[in-house]
Amino acid sequence: METGQRTESRMKNHVIPRNEMKIQFDALSINEAFARLAVAAFVAPLNPTMEEISDIKTAVSEAVTNAIIHGYDGEFPGENPQEGQQGETNQVFLHCLMDEDVLHVEIRDTGKGIENIEQAMEPLFTTKPEMDRSGMGFAFMEAFMDDLEVVSQPGCGTVVLMKKKLGTTSWIRQEE
Ligand SMILES: Nc1ncnc2c1ncn2[C@@H]1O[C@H](COP(=O)(O)OP(=O)(O)O)[C@@H](O)[C@H]1O
Ligand SMILES: [Mg+2]
Repeated sequence: METGQRTESRMKNHVIPRNEMKIQFDALSINEAFARLAVAAFVAPLNPTMEEISDIKTAVSEAVTNAIIHGYDGEFPGENPQEGQQGETNQVFLHCLMDEDVLHVEIRDTGKGIENIEQAMEPLFTTKPEMDRSGMGFAFMEAFMDDLEVVSQPGCGTVVLMKKKLGTTSWIRQEE
C-alpha cells in the first residue's frame, strides 16, 4: 500500500515529515498562554529538550503579547463577552510549520503596524514605557530562536517570522 510504503521508507531514512498548523484567536491576553502551549504541544512529538520548549514558548509569548498590546493597542474592549460583538474582535494569526527539523512560526496581526522596524528591534526600545514594558521582546525572540524576521506596514499590521532548528531525533524513530 502506497501510504504504508512511504511510512516505511521514512522510518528507514529517519526523514521527518512536514507538519503544519494554523490557529486564529481573539487578541486577548488570556490567549497568550494558549498560544505558547499550542506551539509547545505542536513540537512535542519531536522530543524537544526542555530548553528548546522553553525558548519557543518565550518567543511565541513575546510575539503574541506584542500583537495584542502594541498591534491592537491593548485588549479589545469586548474581553467581557457581553460587550464584545461576534466577528468584530481583533485577531491574532498563528501559523506553525515543521519542515524536517526546523520549526517555522509566524505570528501576525492586522493592527497598527511598526513605523521603524530597526528601531523597534533595538534592545530596551519601547513605545509603552508607561506600561512597564521592558523593550526586550524582540531581543528575546532573537536570542531564543535561530532566525527572526519582522515585516510590518503602518496601518496594516505586523508579521513576525521565527525559525528554530530542533536538535532532535526524528519522531518516526519513536515508532521503531
Ligand atoms: N505587533 C506589533 N505591532 C505594532 N508595534 C509593535 C509590534 N510589536 C512590537 N512593536 C513595537 O516594537 C517595540 C518593541 O517591542 P518589544 O521589543 O517587544 O518591547 P516592548 O513590548 O517591551 O515594548 C514596541 O514598544 C512597539 O512599539
Ligand atoms: Mg514586547
